[in-house]
Amino acid sequence: MKFLLHTYGCQMNVRDAETVAALLEAVGHVQVGSEAEADAIIINTCSVRGKAEDKALGKARLLCFEKRNRQLIVGIMGCMAQRLGESIFDSVRGLDFIVGSRRHGSVPQLLARVAAGETQIADLGEAGEVTAIPHVHLDGTHAAFVTILLGCNRRCAYCIVPDVRGPEYSRPAAEIIAEVRQLAARGVREVTLLGQSVMNYGRANAVGIDVSAPSAFSEPLPRLLEAVAAVPGILRIRFTSGHPSGCTDELVRAVRDIPQICAHLHLPVQSGSDRILALMRRGYGRADYLDAIARLRVARPGFAITSDVIIGFPGETTEDFEATRSLMEEAAFENTFIFKYSPRPGTPAADLPETVDAEEKMRRNQILLIDQDRCGQAINEARIGQTVEVLADGPSLRNASRWAGRTSGNMIVIFENRADARVAPGDLVSVTITRAKPQTLYGELKTPSGLTPC
Ligand code: SAH
Ligand code: SF4
Ligand code: F3S
Repeated sequence: MKFLLHTYGCQMNVRDAETVAALLEAVGHVQVGSEAEADAIIINTCSVRGKAEDKALGKARLLCFEKRNRQLIVGIMGCMAQRLGESIFDSVRGLDFIVGSRRHGSVPQLLARVAAGETQIADLGEAGEVTAIPHVHLDGTHAAFVTILLGCNRRCAYCIVPDVRGPEYSRPAAEIIAEVRQLAARGVREVTLLGQSVMNYGRANAVGIDVSAPSAFSEPLPRLLEAVAAVPGILRIRFTSGHPSGCTDELVRAVRDIPQICAHLHLPVQSGSDRILALMRRGYGRADYLDAIARLRVARPGFAITSDVIIGFPGETTEDFEATRSLMEEAAFENTFIFKYSPRPGTPAADLPETVDAEEKMRRNQILLIDQDRCGQAINEARIGQTVEVLADGPSLRNASRWAGRTSGNMIVIFENRADARVAPGDLVSVTITRAKPQTLYGELKTPSGLTPC
């Protein structure tokens, strides 16, 4: 069968989609790039904001409508399938199957059952189920995601993720290292370790890190990072998303002392107002956050921080909003993802009356976007003239000699790839920066620097 996956949401969903694609390919199905070619289309969904769900539902309805004209299997996987359950069958007529956020390993069997004539199959699993999840990868990439922590126990007041992804479960360290070794053997150079609150790794359940073995660290995440760095061939390690409570002395020391760890952390702040942070139940204040990033930057000069901000949380006043603006200015983020608050059913914040109307949310959104652009532009202009190390990703779609890559700080760099340089995806090269935009650097390829640790 020819299949297509549409993925919404976070990196965790991108990772789950890769697993599904690898499992389907292993039993002979073929991934295709367009809906017209596909015999089966699976929509991989996100519930974090109402809009993300509306988009996925709209897409599913359109595809099911198309079933009138041709043979097509349509399924929904991921967070929205988990949240809405079998009620989706009432709102999306003709849908063939739904599969929960920890049950995607069963997609090949579900497709086979639909092909054999069954319809409206639901496989949502038990809450907190972990055993059935395969962690398989596609070949041919030089950068890979590795899920190390499932679920989330934090329960921030606005967030649906703990409901749809279940309680936290840290995968055994040995299993993760075996996965990274396999990836490295297949040519992967960069791994990104994934968890919703990734610094909680090893806190909710034992992970089997041998504490009697000599190590520079005693906490689970620094120890895991140390072990991943010891895998031959892995040149870069990232982990996401962070939380200030996880920026312990040991973690900061790991960032300082383990050269493979990249000079970047995505550390969502959500708000710069202590009052709103408390209402959000984030578990830290403005000063704690600023302290965490200051310590990371002392450990690694030039360390890049990116962030998420929610605007229009219930009760957010102009002063609260200005506090967020001033925090962003003080923190000097390389990038900030700005989200308009969306009440999620069943979360504590959904009981609070909304106080910021759509127009005001839009206004605050625009202001933060302009602030962030100015900040990103200033940070990147200061880099003009510097020579930076770039992991080459590959040619851009429009112009094959124009290549894109990323710095250790996760900034995108565009450069001309000269034929004589023979740069291949996954190579580390040196690029001298000549031009800057808020989210992109442009430069000239100096010399390929070969596969040396960054
Ligand atoms: N686990 C990550 C975030 C996952 S959700 C972390 O805690 O860092 C990604 C982002 O979506 C969050 O950081 C937050 O900024 C935003 N978000 C989550 N729930 C939201 C809601 N109800 N409305 C608007 N934005 C939300
Ligand atoms: Fe949601 Fe908070 Fe967990 Fe992030 S840490 S997934 S924002 S509950
Ligand atoms: Fe969305 Fe689920 Fe990720 S709700 S943000 S896809 S964990």
